[in-house]
Amino acid sequence: MTDTAKLSAAGKDLDLKVMHGSVGPDVLDIRKLYAQTGMFTYDPGFTSTASCDSAITYIDGDEGVLLHRGYPIGQLAEQSSFMEVCHLLLNGELPTQDELDKFSYTISRHTMLHEQLATFYRGFRRDAHPMAIMCGVVGALSAFYQDSADITDPQQRMIASHRLIAKMPTIAAMAYKYSIGQPFMHPKNNLSYTGNFLQMTFGVPAEEYVVNPVVEKAMDRIFILHADHEQNASTSTVRLAGSSGANPFACIAAGIACLWGPAHGGANEAALNMLREIGTVDRIPEYIARAKDKNDPFRLMGFGHRVYKNYDPRATVMQQTVREVLGELGVTDPVFDVAIALEEMALSDPYFIEKKLFPNVDFYSGVILSAIGFPTTMFTALFALARTVGWVAQWNEMISDPEQKIGRPRQLYTGPTQRDYVALGDRK
Ligand code: ACO
Repeated sequence: MTDTAKLSAAGKDLDLKVMHGSVGPDVLDIRKLYAQTGMFTYDPGFTSTASCDSAITYIDGDEGVLLHRGYPIGQLAEQSSFMEVCHLLLNGELPTQDELDKFSYTISRHTMLHEQLATFYRGFRRDAHPMAIMCGVVGALSAFYQDSADITDPQQRMIASHRLIAKMPTIAAMAYKYSIGQPFMHPKNNLSYTGNFLQMTFGVPAEEYVVNPVVEKAMDRIFILHADHEQNASTSTVRLAGSSGANPFACIAAGIACLWGPAHGGANEAALNMLREIGTVDRIPEYIARAKDKNDPFRLMGFGHRVYKNYDPRATVMQQTVREVLGELGVTDPVFDVAIALEEMALSDPYFIEKKLFPNVDFYSGVILSAIGFPTTMFTALFALARTVGWVAQWNEMISDPEQKIGRPRQLYTGPTQRDYVALGDRK
């Protein structure tokens, strides 16, 4: 294993330190590059840049591997619960039974929202996208929970993290209730984290809500599959916002804003809309042809991934879960047949094979969420709910790193060089 790499730049020969992680590609330490050569590196989209070191999540995109604190996502999805995964991501280890009970109890004690926050919802239009509401309401938490805003205090950081994980289901469910004009449902702490979310979303005050265990399990699994994903766009946004010392709730609101886009968390909504638009299996070739056409901006939503150039391991679990949920609920959704056939056709097409484009986690999640009863606009809000634990775990890791500094990328400037101001009357 070499510990230095040679670089010749600006007439100088440099020895760059090679840093080794516990697994995965080595990285070149270029922190002194500018000081020594006066040059920056150029990497739009950060395709070759490690922005931090992290002990939380590992992805091997070529092999289709995703590990949280070393545990494969398939094992966690099959055998653990979302609360266990939250404990694992935040604290580094799977909890003992006692630790899990305590953690679940702590989270359940933070599920309610300050009553004043309910009035925020009434300021939104009824047809507002739930992600617009989530950005606003989560950002507004910073005005309500000021006793956990001192980011230099590890205990306050943990309280803010617990609050965010606990309140996100309440916030998301309220966004849904508001959009359909039903009364907000209060959390019920005798239910599981996921059961409580279903109760707040689909329950009504006039009736007792009975949680369907198959739906609860499927939903919990979906939360596990979305819990963290290394330094993706929204997590990097949270880290960047947090690097200035910003309020924790404001940082998570920034992450939600980033997640909303169709190239990131919004893809599950876009994928289901696309499958519905295709409608029947016989129309698939037309859409595949459009996806391959360089002059058509259309892409197969739910296909492709910046990191996975092999099957997305989360998509495998998701595909199995679709069958379970549709079977349990007795839903026969033609969209599922379209999804299966589209996957088959795309994966046997040279364009998709050569470009290593496989279904990602979002390809099937929309079908399940729709079968459970969520409107497409709620899909990304559910993603935000689940990803909150990843965001707060990564944010905590960053703040507690003694080497942490404000994130400040540089640029290759291509604008005008210096020129003199021209008085308004003299401009042509
Ligand atoms: N359909 C058709 N062609 C595609 C697709 C797609 N879904 N995705 C990538 N390609 C093609 C591109 O046109 C490009 O072709 P070219 O080399 O001939 O120009 C090539 O594959 C590489 O694509 P890039 O956009 O450069 O790859 P990148 O890694 O930047 O993008 C991304 C990854 C944004 C996810 C992309 O695959 C995409 O837009 N997919 C659809 C949206 C989606 O499903 N997003 C969810 C991501 S997962 C998540 O956030 C949980």
